[in-house]
Amino acid sequence: MNTLMRRAQHLHHWRTYCIKQCAAVAGNEATAAAKGKTSYEELIDSRHQQAERSIVVQVSSEKSYNELYNYCSRFGRIVTAHHYTVPHEDELHYMLLEYANANEATAAIDSSAYNAELSGHSSVSAGGSGSGVPVRSPFLWFRAAAAAGKRNQSKLSANHKPLPLTTVAGTRPLAQDHLHTLLRSAESIEQQLQLLYEHTRLNDLGVRMRFLAALQVQQAIAGMFPEARAQPFGSSVNGFGKMGCDLDLILRFDGATTAQSERQLMSRLVYHTKENLSNGRSQTQRQMECIGDLLHLFLPGVCHVRRILQARVPIIKYHHEHLDLEVDLSMSNLTGFYMSELLYMFGELDPRVRPLTFSIRRWAQSCGLTNPSPGRWISNFSLSCLVMYFLQQLRQPILPSISAMVKTAASTDIRITEDGINCTFARDMERVSFASRNTSSLSELLLQFFEFYSQFDFHNRAISLNEARALSKPDHSAMYIVNPLEQLLNVSKNVSLEECERLRIEVRNAAWILESEVENSTLTEQERNEQSWGLLNLFKHPEKAVIRPNMFFKPRMVEVSDLFEKSQLNGSTTTPPINYKNA
Ligand code: CTP
Ligand code: MG
Repeated sequence: MNTLMRRAQHLHHWRTYCIKQCAAVAGNEATAAAKGKTSYEELIDSRHQQAERSIVVQVSSEKSYNELYNYCSRFGRIVTAHHYTVPHEDELHYMLLEYANANEATAAIDSSAYNAELSGHSSVSAGGSGSGVPVRSPFLWFRAAAAAGKRNQSKLSANHKPLPLTTVAGTRPLAQDHLHTLLRSAESIEQQLQLLYEHTRLNDLGVRMRFLAALQVQQAIAGMFPEARAQPFGSSVNGFGKMGCDLDLILRFDGATTAQSERQLMSRLVYHTKENLSNGRSQTQRQMECIGDLLHLFLPGVCHVRRILQARVPIIKYHHEHLDLEVDLSMSNLTGFYMSELLYMFGELDPRVRPLTFSIRRWAQSCGLTNPSPGRWISNFSLSCLVMYFLQQLRQPILPSISAMVKTAASTDIRITEDGINCTFARDMERVSFASRNTSSLSELLLQFFEFYSQFDFHNRAISLNEARALSKPDHSAMYIVNPLEQLLNVSKNVSLEECERLRIEVRNAAWILESEVENSTLTEQERNEQSWGLLNLFKHPEKAVIRPNMFFKPRMVEVSDLFEKSQLNGSTTTPPINYKNA
C-alpha cells in the first residue's frame, strides 16, 4: 500500500512538473527571461524541443551541403546547419539540420525511403546498408539523386540560398598539443583558466547530438510506451561536461510529454497495465535486458551494447556510431537526474564555479587521480562535490548549502521519487542566489582549493554539502562525501585508502607548484610562448604520480616520510604507500 501511495505521490509530482512546463510554454517564458537565468527544467525542455526539430543526415562529403539543403528545404525552413565528421576508415560526414518547427522535421523523416537497395549506396558502414529492418529515427542518409529517380534531381534555386554551414570536426576533445599552445599564448594564469574552460567544455553541437541520441531511444519505443521519456543527465546537461564526455541517459516509461499529461489528467479512460513483479529491482533488470536487445537489434548507429545489470544502478552501455558517442542508459536513477540539477544550479550561481571545476578535473586527470573506467579512484562526480564543498565552506561562501536551498523551496519544487527519496529544493535561481562577497580570482580560488584539501582530515571527517560543513565520519571509508540526495549513501565509497593518500599528496604538490607560479608571473611574452608556465606546470605529469626529487620548482616537495609524520601527528593510523608508482 505504501509503495502504491508513494508511486501515486511521485506521479502527482511528475505531473505537477509537466503542468508547470505547460504553463511555461503557454506564456511564462518572459518571466524566465526577466530573471536572466535559465532554469534546469527550461534548459532540458528547450533542448528536447530542439532535438525534435532536427535531423542528422549522413552525406558523402561536405560538398553535398548545397544539394542537401536544397532538397531538405522542401519540408520546411532550415534554421541552423552543422557539419561534423566521425573518425572511421574514411572519415564519415554528417549534417545536423534544424528546422523551424518539429512538424517540418517530422515531414522530412516521414518522407524517407527504407529500400536502400535502390541506391547502390556502398559507403555507409554505419548501418545504412539496406539489409536491416527499417526503423523510424532522426538518423538518415542522403542517397545520390540518380538512385532516387530523375524527378528528384533539382538545381539549387535562387530562393534557397543555403545558410552558412557551421563546420565542427565532431565533438572530440582538443588535441593536447593544441591546448598547450593555446594555454602558452595566454597572458596570465587567470586567462589560462578561462581558456581551458572555453576550449574544453562541451559545445552546442555536442549537446544537440546528445539530445538526438535520447530522442532516438524515445521514438523507437513510443508506439508501445507513449509516455516514455529518455532524459539526458550528468555532465551532458549540468554544464560541467567536457568535449567527448559520455551521455548519461535515464529512460522512464512514465515520463509524460507535457500536452498529453494535461489531457490525461482530465480523462476518465485509463490504460490497463500489466502487474509489476513484486521485486522492483529484478523487474527493472528484466526490462533493461529487453530494451538492451531492442537497441542492439534494431536501432541504427547503436553498437557494442553491454548490459551491466548487477551494479547498484543497473545500466546498458552502448556506442553510437553516427554521433561518435558513448551512452550509459539507466532506468532507475531519478536521483542522479536531480543531482545533475543541483550541480547545474551551482554552476549557474557564480561564473567562477565551472572554470574552477574544469581546471581541477583536468589537473586530477593529468596526475592520474581520475581514470575513465570506474574503480577505487576518485570519480569526476566526487571531485566536483569536493569543489562545491570547498566553495560552500569559504569564510565568504560562493555557494549556499543544500539545506538552505531546501528551506527556501516552494510547493512547485516538491519532487519525490518513486522510491520515496525526497529531491525537493528551491529551483528558482532568484530564490537561491545570494550576493557573495567573495572577490577572489579564479587562480586564488584554485590555490586555496589545493591548500584546503591538503589540510583536510579525510581520516575523521565526512563532507556534507547539505550542511556545508564537515561531520564525523560514520564509517571507515577512506573518503566520505554524504550523497546530497540519498544521505545514507557515500558518494566516494569506492575510493581506496591508497587513492585517498594519493589525493592528499597531489593536492600538496599542486599547491606548491601553483604558489611558485603565482609568484613567478614576470615572464616576458616571448618566454611565455616558449616555455611551459602556469597551469601547464600543474598539468605536467609525464610519468603520472611518480615522486621524483627536483621535479617541481620548490625544494619543499612533499616526501612520503613527511606525509607519514603528518598523518601520525593527526592521529592517523594510515601507513602511506612507500612508492605509489603502480597505484
Ligand atoms: N550521480 C549521483 N551519485 C553518484 C554518482 C553519480 O547522483 N554516486 C549522478 C550525478 O548527477 C552525476 C550523474 O549521476 O552528474 C552522472 O554520473 P557520472 O557519469 O559518473 O558523472 P558526470 O557528472 O556525468 O561526469 P563525467 O563527465 O565524468 O561522466
Ligand atoms: Mg557522465
